[in-house]
Amino acid sequence: MIESRSARRVRRALVIGLCAAPCAAAAVTPPPLTAQTTRYDFPFDWPFRGRQRPAVTASRGMVVSTSGLASDVGAEILRRGGNAVDAAVATAFALAVVHPEAGNIGGGGFLIARLASGEIAALDFRERAPITATRDMFLDASGAVNKTSLTGHLAAGVPGSVAGLHAAWQRYGSLPWETILGPAIELAERGFLVDERFHRNLAQAKERLLQFPSTVEGFLTSGEPPAIGATFRQRDLAETLRLIAQQGPDAFYRGRIADLIVQEMRRGGGIIRHDDLARYEAKWRDPIVFDYRGYRVLSAPPPSSGGVTLAVILKILEGYDLARLGWHTPESIHLFVEAFRRAFADRNYYLGDPDYVDMPIAGLTSDAYAEELRTTISRNRASNSEDVSRVLPVGEGMHTTHLSVVDSAGNAVALSTTLNSFYGSGVVVAAAGFFLNNEMDDFSARPGAPNQYGLVQGEANAIEPGKRMLSAMTPSVVLDPAGRLFLVAGTPGGGTIITQMAQILTNVIDYRMDLRTAVDAPRFHHQLFPDEIRYERGGLDGLTIGALSSMGHRLRESEEYLGDVNAILILPDGTRLGAADERRGGEAIGA
Ligand code: DON
Repeated sequence: MIESRSARRVRRALVIGLCAAPCAAAAVTPPPLTAQTTRYDFPFDWPFRGRQRPAVTASRGMVVSTSGLASDVGAEILRRGGNAVDAAVATAFALAVVHPEAGNIGGGGFLIARLASGEIAALDFRERAPITATRDMFLDASGAVNKTSLTGHLAAGVPGSVAGLHAAWQRYGSLPWETILGPAIELAERGFLVDERFHRNLAQAKERLLQFPSTVEGFLTSGEPPAIGATFRQRDLAETLRLIAQQGPDAFYRGRIADLIVQEMRRGGGIIRHDDLARYEAKWRDPIVFDYRGYRVLSAPPPSSGGVTLAVILKILEGYDLARLGWHTPESIHLFVEAFRRAFADRNYYLGDPDYVDMPIAGLTSDAYAEELRTTISRNRASNSEDVSRVLPVGEGMHTTHLSVVDSAGNAVALSTTLNSFYGSGVVVAAAGFFLNNEMDDFSARPGAPNQYGLVQGEANAIEPGKRMLSAMTPSVVLDPAGRLFLVAGTPGGGTIITQMAQILTNVIDYRMDLRTAVDAPRFHHQLFPDEIRYERGGLDGLTIGALSSMGHRLRESEEYLGDVNAILILPDGTRLGAADERRGGEAIGA
């Protein structure tokens, strides 16, 4: 068995450090450790150790999002007597104002709810292809995928966020709709202080955004992002939100905002028309439900691939004693990677919009199938993606956000929304003040050709009129073996979303990390193609990299940190622990 020195250190830390108090107390269902108690031996260079930002503790409600301003909105809604759905919807609208990179009304998303009554629900408000979309609309004369699936008006799918947030509120909300939108309207109208992150993200996207006059007008004063410390106001967006508050989603799908979207489309050669908007519907679906070591996972169903792919991964891993193998040992990383590889092969081949394709979901998520897949995994040799894949790549050459909410009654909401890339298509709807997504790139523009995340997807996800493009979003709620609410979590990251979630779940369930440590821990990714392990800078030591290479794995340091996990863990005594990912700087706020 190959084991690096640091891996042995980690294993020792697990045995000695983590089990001291809690393991003995609960042999059957080990409770998670409380915050701030765990010592974990991360590689020397790893920058995130939660020391500056311990998990936030609350006895009643908790909101965790990528923005302190938005989390604050959700927490205030909880304090005013709103429930978790009210707070999640209010936080999402606030993110559309303060986090225009990904928070949105021009995109879409998925919501998983688990109510204190035990009721569970999944809401799909994924964008749809416009009615006049065609299979080859992004191919040039030579058959290669061009850039219009990423930037500009054609890249936009029919937005689902307003319909989705309203549907969630209509079914479960308790406060008036206007109350839910109030804080977002105020943030847009009065403005907020530009911080370093807001400025930097706009500056990085500047060249792309400068192509669109309406975007320049709203976000780039004299061609530059607003200065750090300046107050940033969005009057058009405030008016748009006010119309939605007064008239509900009809303002967006049939009224003035629909007119503005269609005008914007005509100006820029886009194809979304009034019919597309009027026909859009958010859909309630059954969550993907599966068990992992006695814990019950509720996650996003197709047209997200998140829940199914996470199930395939965890079902494979369930057959190995990860805790004994140790966290981030070459052996355990190898097994994760082989599970990722096989799960992505099925994802890319089978999954798509359930209204358009049949999928063998029960089979894919079954124990028997996982057992079969395990027989194809060697314990010490990397397999070859081309041998595993069902869709072979053809030669050819972001942004999402997740929020988690738990209220005092124990209702839980995991909500991921996205524009796809940072600022979506780059196009702001003139006079309406919001970015349109570039979600069309999540389709297989040409089956077998990698999309912007390098995902090589197949026929099941080819473009068809009205179809929803396959997503990787994995908002999830986990119950402990006693059926109690245990974890609410999700993350952005395109294809990496699923593999980051697999690591968060195993970090708390197998490796018994406290929540802060589980979120801080370095992560890695493999998605079948490209056939490489992507790891975070400082996240794997040289010995581990060497050991994995000698098993036949290719490794590459990621240019950016992976994911932005915003999570809540509920201790057996009901205490809520909230942790926002230090990788991007969100905030957990108790209420
Ligand atoms: O739905 C999806 O899978 C992608 N559009 C998500 C994009 C994303 O997470 C970008 N974030 N970094």
